[in-house]
Amino acid sequence: MNIIIQNATLITSTKVYALDLRIEGEKIVELGVNIPFSNTDIIIDATGKYLIPGGIDPHVHLHLSTGAGYSSDDFYSGSVAALFGGTTTVIDFVTPHKGQSLVEALDERKKEAENALIDYSFHVSPIDWHSNIEDEILACKKLGITSFKVYLAYLQNIGLDRSVFANVLKTVSKIGGMVTIHCEMGKEIDQLRDQFFEAGKIEPLYHPLSRPAKMESDAVLMAIEMAAEANCPIYIVHVSTAESLKHIQKAQAKGQKVYGETCPQYLLLDDSKYEGTFQETAPYVMSPPLRKSYDKDALWEGIQKGNIQTIGTDHCPFMMSQKELGINDFRKIANGAGGIEHRLQLLYTFGVLTHKISLQQWVNLCSTSPAKIFGMYPTKGEIAVGSDADLILWNPDFENIISLENQHQHCDSNIYEGMAVTGKAEMVFRRGELMIENGILIPNTTKGKFIERN
Ligand code: URP
Ligand code: ZN
Repeated sequence: MNIIIQNATLITSTKVYALDLRIEGEKIVELGVNIPFSNTDIIIDATGKYLIPGGIDPHVHLHLSTGAGYSSDDFYSGSVAALFGGTTTVIDFVTPHKGQSLVEALDERKKEAENALIDYSFHVSPIDWHSNIEDEILACKKLGITSFKVYLAYLQNIGLDRSVFANVLKTVSKIGGMVTIHCEMGKEIDQLRDQFFEAGKIEPLYHPLSRPAKMESDAVLMAIEMAAEANCPIYIVHVSTAESLKHIQKAQAKGQKVYGETCPQYLLLDDSKYEGTFQETAPYVMSPPLRKSYDKDALWEGIQKGNIQTIGTDHCPFMMSQKELGINDFRKIANGAGGIEHRLQLLYTFGVLTHKISLQQWVNLCSTSPAKIFGMYPTKGEIAVGSDADLILWNPDFENIISLENQHQHCDSNIYEGMAVTGKAEMVFRRGELMIENGILIPNTTKGKFIERN
């Protein structure tokens, strides 16, 4: 298809400007004034709209296998929800079974993702240390995986102890990759969880109480110190507390390669959501949990000062029936919440329109910066000749109330239910193919593809 988009306001991470743009096949091939129409299949008048690079969500869990069953969005439904929200690429995760090689697990996961309508990559998780693991990490790198995720929580199954974590940092540093880290002190949290449960404290409220802010910030500090020792770049996922941010700021000020991600839920919601009945509070059971109001303020400031580089969603929705597995034991409540569809809209409404961030920062946080950090730039995350035509025509005036009635994610709760938002991804192009137009998913489009990163 040869498509011309005219009269749009283009927004990139550095500029806001007016130019016409031509797409040919999967790529942006021309930017200019009055691009001639010859051989053009479609001409789109984008007057009054913004044209931004497709969103890149660096943290999602589609079709995640857990003790409570799979997360309720698979790669198809989750990618549809992502498209409606203006996200055209995600980075999900590969978590091997015990004894499975990382390469085999990656292969399996690629097959599970084949139904996605958006492009995808994975952070691969070493969950133990065995004789071949260094070779497996190197093999993953050769297959286009540049980031390796470790969990300092969840010690019973996928979490790592200090010595394995140190080995992963050293190995990934050697191959020039990045370690992404879920920072919570696993052992201390497990003890607190058991203590609460044994004392008869079984309600969702004990989820946040057993994962206090200090258990995150202590883990962040430990990770930063160990990464400095190993000379390995790190990316701290879902930063949720003011104290964690201080550690990140200090390390960055010293020149250490430490990146920070936060999520809309930590910027917009707080721990008052844990007051109420099981049905009201269980949807907010996620790790890390929602924090205090001052943590939200600190995170916005961290974004403004550039200490937080990306916004991911940690999209991991579950049905209420899965949450209810923990009705008599908060430790069994399915852990996570959805949000893949709302990221751009929430950041636009509560960031750009409140003047906390500029339009360029919005694009940077939600697209360009994840592309740069995770080795996809400038193919993704940019509006430039030669980049993939992952483009969003954004209606800046559309108003909506987030609700179960109009969401696309496959879930029977929504942690943003009732929030008034502005802005909508009105047209969504993924590699030049029109996927969404005015609230309609275009039928019979091609599938997304695995993106090899470098
Ligand atoms: O509660 C969450 N975030 N569930 C998803 C898995 C994780 O910890 O990232
Ligand atoms: Zn996660």
